[in-house]
Amino acid sequence: MVKAKSLLRAARRAQTNAHAPYSRFRVGAVVQTARGRLYTGCNIENSSYGLTICAERTALFNAVSAGERRFKAIAVVADEKGYTSPCGACRQVIWDLAGNVDVIMSNGSGDVRIVKMIDLLPHPFGPKNLKTRRRGKT
Ligand code: THU
Repeated sequence: MVKAKSLLRAARRAQTNAHAPYSRFRVGAVVQTARGRLYTGCNIENSSYGLTICAERTALFNAVSAGERRFKAIAVVADEKGYTSPCGACRQVIWDLAGNVDVIMSNGSGDVRIVKMIDLLPHPFGPKNLKTRRRGKT
């Protein structure tokens, strides 16, 4: 299992940048690469609500756009009493780009819960399902 503390600290820092004027629901996230680097993200809302992006995808896209491809864990923090678990869209994106990583969640009281991605997205559809269709390097 991963060491959650430093990841949660980074996610909390990212949460301060959340742009959530519509929901007021502020979320921070961080992904940890296989080599131990951290990339953060926050939710960024849009006046055209559907264009909002969650903190988890911001963090993951931040890492991928920096050239990272192998991941160990993702952490997500919010201020609620319960844990904030990645939404359905984020589960698919996390599975596709990061695979069966540890998902660390922390609530507003600082309690921590760690689950595996496969438990959040059982029987997933992913890159392997398209393997026979891929041609060459992309
Ligand atoms: N949100 C996240 O950033 N991550 C989650 O895991 C759940 C939801 C954001 C999207 C939106 O800005 C706000 O929280 C309310 O749904």
